[in-house]
Amino acid sequence: MNMIDIISKKRDNYKLSKEEIEFFINGYVKGEIPDYQVSSLLMAIFLNGLDDDETCNLTFSMLNSGEVMDLSKISGIKADKHSTGGVGDKVSLVLGPIIASFGVKLAKMSGRGLGHTGGTLDKLESIPGFNINISNTRFINQVNDIGLAIIGQTQNLVPADKLLYALRDVTATVDSIPLIASSIMSKKLASGADIIVLDVKVGSGAFMKNIDDAVKLSKLMVKIGKKANKYVSCIITDMDEPLGLAIGNNLEVIEAINTLNGNGPKDLLDVTIKLVSKILIKAKLYSNEESASKAILEHINDGSALKKLKEMVAAQDGDNSPIFNTELFPKSKYIYEVKSKKKGYITHMDALKLGIASMHMGAGRLKKEDSINYNVGIVLNKKTNDYVNLNDTLCYLHMDKIDESIIKEVYDAFTFGESKVNIKTIYEEVD
Ligand code: URA
Repeated sequence: MNMIDIISKKRDNYKLSKEEIEFFINGYVKGEIPDYQVSSLLMAIFLNGLDDDETCNLTFSMLNSGEVMDLSKISGIKADKHSTGGVGDKVSLVLGPIIASFGVKLAKMSGRGLGHTGGTLDKLESIPGFNINISNTRFINQVNDIGLAIIGQTQNLVPADKLLYALRDVTATVDSIPLIASSIMSKKLASGADIIVLDVKVGSGAFMKNIDDAVKLSKLMVKIGKKANKYVSCIITDMDEPLGLAIGNNLEVIEAINTLNGNGPKDLLDVTIKLVSKILIKAKLYSNEESASKAILEHINDGSALKKLKEMVAAQDGDNSPIFNTELFPKSKYIYEVKSKKKGYITHMDALKLGIASMHMGAGRLKKEDSINYNVGIVLNKKTNDYVNLNDTLCYLHMDKIDESIIKEVYDAFTFGESKVNIKTIYEEVD
């Protein structure tokens, strides 16, 4: 078997065998196959696709390229959640404490933000002192003790994905449904949970730009889960506009705390309740969505969900005082109000443009090694379908430097019209 034959086979749109896929993944991870040959194969896959069998084989070869987390020392049911990435997506920070308050365990490994999308690890690190690098033993003990822990990915988890993702990023081969499905599912399966819920984002700020593609991706990931004997369920949610009102690290943590205090924005709460309900029903704690949702709201109202966030922050060396009083979070130097120069309904609020503007303010990174500013970002004052008058405040920019080009970028993300548009927070569910 050799790489040239494998590349030509995919170039000519033939199906790759399990052995050929294993050969390329193992050879690449061992450093025996050079980047230029893998780049060429990735482009052939991007153009000609992989069928479901090939995608499953790719996922399992990637999964087997490194260590698989052993969560057997954690008692009870273990759940995991993943989002395909978006702007203002702080669902994990709300979902984790809620499920832990029901006794379902969350042993989660998260990622950092890159480009216009934020990352849960950066948001958590905006809590002074929060430590995302705890040892495996401490991680397992913490989940057993308090029910949840969120840490960075261990170095040896799916090394094939680390290599392939970096190469896809620079070879224009990221937006391929089989490559995204295998990348996400290899990592989720390696994380060792029993129940996996996936939030597949669709819209201007997401990888999937239309619902048909989001459904295809979701069905494929559910199928891979079934092959691995894991319960995987997807919801397809809007990312044409940001989720919630806050974009930027500590601003998003504050919004998550407000949500756990019962004062969260409706779209964020709806997505969180839908995902948590799926977990609680699968864990056999509730038999339907109505009873699960009612119980979730009770755990928010009686403070038991927020208590779990405080326990996690304390267990991971964080300072809990800003969780009790969000005014104690460090602040940006300026808060600039962006005013409307038009009147009418907001018909689109471009999540991608707002995510990029927030990154330019310092909340995100362009390159992996860039450092970020935890205190800057955008807080929306209006959302799609709100009516605005001239000079109404559209959003607040939390900035350390007033930058006219960023203010323009933000304003240009808003589109106005004479009537409301049809958008939904949750489009479909795929189980
Ligand atoms: N998220 C991932 O983990 N992998 C992809 O390929 C795309 C989004």
